Amino acid sequence: MKKILVTGALGQIGTELVAKLRQGYGVDNVIATDIREIDHDVVKGGPFELLDVTDGANMHELASKYEVDTIIHLAALLSATAEEKPLLAWNLNMGGLVNALEVARELNCQFFTPSSIGAFGPSTPKNATPQDTIQRPTTMYGVNKVSGELLCDYYYQKFGVETRGLRFPGLISYEAPPGGGTTDYAVEIYYEALKKGTYESFIAEGTYMDMMYMPDALNAIVQLLEADASTLIHRNCFNVTAMSVAPEDVGAEIKKHIPQFDLRYKVDPARQAIAESWPDSIDASCATAEWGFKAQFDLQSMTTDMLEKLKEKGY
Ligand code: SER
Repeated sequence: MKKILVTGALGQIGTELVAKLRQGYGVDNVIATDIREIDHDVVKGGPFELLDVTDGANMHELASKYEVDTIIHLAALLSATAEEKPLLAWNLNMGGLVNALEVARELNCQFFTPSSIGAFGPSTPKNATPQDTIQRPTTMYGVNKVSGELLCDYYYQKFGVETRGLRFPGLISYEAPPGGGTTDYAVEIYYEALKKGTYESFIAEGTYMDMMYMPDALNAIVQLLEADASTLIHRNCFNVTAMSVAPEDVGAEIKKHIPQFDLRYKVDPARQAIAESWPDSIDASCATAEWGFKAQFDLQSMTTDMLEKLKEKGY
């Protein structure tokens, strides 16, 4: 039986993951935490606690109080914000992670935290980026992600903490918006297509990055947490992806549903530079081989579902 503490539970992943975990493991077995409290199901639909992840003592206290055996650490700044506030990003992303790992070590918990395609850099092979390859990112977010992958490896090797992780691509979803990420255009474009029939992309035409629809990301987290430890070789940083797309690919798919949709470009040099430092497409074959990862949604089925769900929400 799992009893899970989730940090950053009101973020883009947490909002949907908490609902899925409460459904699968029981409402009382999922303790959602975040630095803010809002009027939302995550807060009202089960145990919820305020938690600043840089406060390790409070994290320990909450994890002990609820006797958790699993920690899913999601609280972090995304790439564009981290580039604007690098020191804050270091303190929050690394400070939060080491606190969460320490609690996992002290209370003998299984541990999950996401890494990202941001853990790669300009000297990484750009296409079909392998699982094990050069990782010399040039962003603070990437520095945090590589350090995080290594730290999780260290906690497993040194202390036997059951750490696991995924290198997520851009995640596309309709419940809670992402904030401050480089791949956020691929979410905004759907909202704006329905609201205004037009979108100004801050990422340039022809810029390819990996993406995945949120249901596939959530399934991957649960599947990896449930995977038999003996099958895992790359436990902390599995490449996972569903598609490699450029803004015009997403635009063309949206046009099939909204023929008058007009995609324009107003490139943000800061986020464009981040995007160009990341791979065009990554290879997820280790995740498939070691624990059976397989994404269900491609660009076509994701676009159909995304537009339907947003319409149901009144967009
Ligand atoms: N979606 C993240 C970002 O753009 C990448 O992991 O920052």
